[in-house]
Parts: sequence; structure tokens; C-alpha cells
Amino acid sequence: MTSPDHRYLLDNARVEAGERFTWLAELFDGVTRGHVDRLGARTGWRCWEVGAGGPSIPEALATAVGPTGHVLATDINPAWLDPHADYEVLRHDIVADPAPQPGTFDLVHARLVLVHVPDRAQALATMVAALRPGGWLLIEDADTELQPLACLDEVGPAQQRANRLRRAVRELMTRRGADLRFGRTLPRALRAVGLVDVSASGFFPVGGLACDRLEAATVRLVRAELLAAGLADDAELDAHLAAIEAGELDLTLAPLISAWGRRPG
Ligand SMILES: C[S@@+](CC[C@H](N)C(=O)[O-])C[C@H]1O[C@@H](n2cnc3c(N)ncnc32)[C@H](O)[C@@H]1O
Repeated sequence: MTSPDHRYLLDNARVEAGERFTWLAELFDGVTRGHVDRLGARTGWRCWEVGAGGPSIPEALATAVGPTGHVLATDINPAWLDPHADYEVLRHDIVADPAPQPGTFDLVHARLVLVHVPDRAQALATMVAALRPGGWLLIEDADTELQPLACLDEVGPAQQRANRLRRAVRELMTRRGADLRFGRTLPRALRAVGLVDVSASGFFPVGGLACDRLEAATVRLVRAELLAAGLADDAELDAHLAAIEAGELDLTLAPLISAWGRRPG
């Protein structure tokens, strides 16, 4: 029997991954920065950005903590991070590697990372181990099953095709070990690892350029896998990309669930 393929599906080595980070930042950085502000990030804080992807959140954290603070940005593939910026960059696997600088961080944040990671419990334990007593963990993850549609308004064949292809991408993610119901479990998961003052909220965008561009980059990124798995054919992928380009789909995403809790002490 062959072992399951749990490699990260949306590989950072591809140019489309960089495009995705641009549009994820456009869609979600305002939400993330709002939570980080409310948790009290300020001058002198030590922050760890896990699975950072692109540079926008590490840059925002570095601005918030100033020269007396410290921001560590890690990823299994940190290719899109700037090693010369005001944050430290480290190649780090949140499942396989131990917490860097354990017990020292005021804030540990991961957005859209754990949903892709097969051993989510281990990843959470590593992040908690990095917190100082009283430090905050902020986890943000999609709950794709909560709102699985690409088009809420399934008014014609283009919208139906978009929803069919979204199901196909979700199927690929599931085969790679993603948990598409993970977002809703976050408050419980944070309490289970011993955090206190746990709260959560959700957000999802409907329509607009950033949703369109993110969808086009994602479809191009996984196109070969969709074809190889027999989950889509060239004609429908081309038609979908043309419909996105025409701006007629009002695409949406799964809700982003943001949950936070504090290490006691
Ligand atoms: C969907 S992207 C999200 C990027 C960024 N956090 C954001 O919200 O824009 C997921 C990121 O997690 C990283 N990643 C996946 N598995 C990982 C692991 N085991 N350890 C660390 N990073 C991982 C990927 O390389 C990718 O950069």
C-alpha cells in the first residue's frame, strides 16, 4: 500500500504562489491586523509569523514592534520572504521542527497554514511552546465546508462550473490531508492546548478583483493536478479562466475563522 501524499498542494516554488500571497494580503491583512492590534501588539513585542508565505504580515508586525522588538517569519519554503528586511527569516516546518526560541514570544500567528498541515495537534503544541506566559496565539484558518461555494449566486452555467471546479480543488486538498472543517474547531482546539481567554470571529469577502485574481492564480497553480486526477478537463478550466477574466462571477471564498487565546501565567 502506498502512503498518503501529504505534501503542501499550493507549492511556493511556483510563480502563482507569489500572486496568491498578494491577493490573500489584499483580502485578509486588514482582518489580521485588526486582531493583532486588539491583542495589544506594540513596541518591543516578540512575534513569530508561522507559514508566513508572503512578506506583508511580517512587515506589518515589524512596524508594530519597532527596533526594540523582534519578528521571526518562518515557512517550509520562505522564498517569498525578504532576508534583508526588518524581520528574521527561517526555513522551518511547523510539524517536524521544534519551537525556535521557546517560551519567549508575546504573539504567535499562523494564517491559512494549519488547515493544510496533516499533524495539526503537533503544530499547535509547537506554537504554544513558543509563547511566553501570558503570550497570545492567533490562528486563522478557512472553514471550507461552512461555505463551500465559489459563486453564492449560481445563476447560470459559468457559476455552476465555478462551483464544480471549487469542489474539485477541495477534493485535491482533502487528498493531501487538509481538514476542510478545521476553522470551526479552532476555539475548542485552543482551549484543549491549555490557552485561556479564548475567543473567535469569522469573515468572508464576496466578489471583487482580489477574489477573481486569487481564484485565477489558484486554478493555474493546481491545473496539472486537477487534470492528472481526472477532476477537470482543459476545456472547462479554460472556460472558467475566461469567465473570471470577464468579471462576471462574483467569486467568494470560504470564511476565515480567526481564533485567539493566551497562555496562562
Ligand atoms: C495558503 S499559504 C498562506 C500564507 C500566509 N500565511 C497568508 O495567509 O497569506 C500557506 C503557507 O504555509 C506554508 N506551509 C505549509 N506547510 C507548512 C509547514 N508544515 N510548516 C511551515 N509552513 C508551512 C506554505 O509554504 C505557505 O507559505
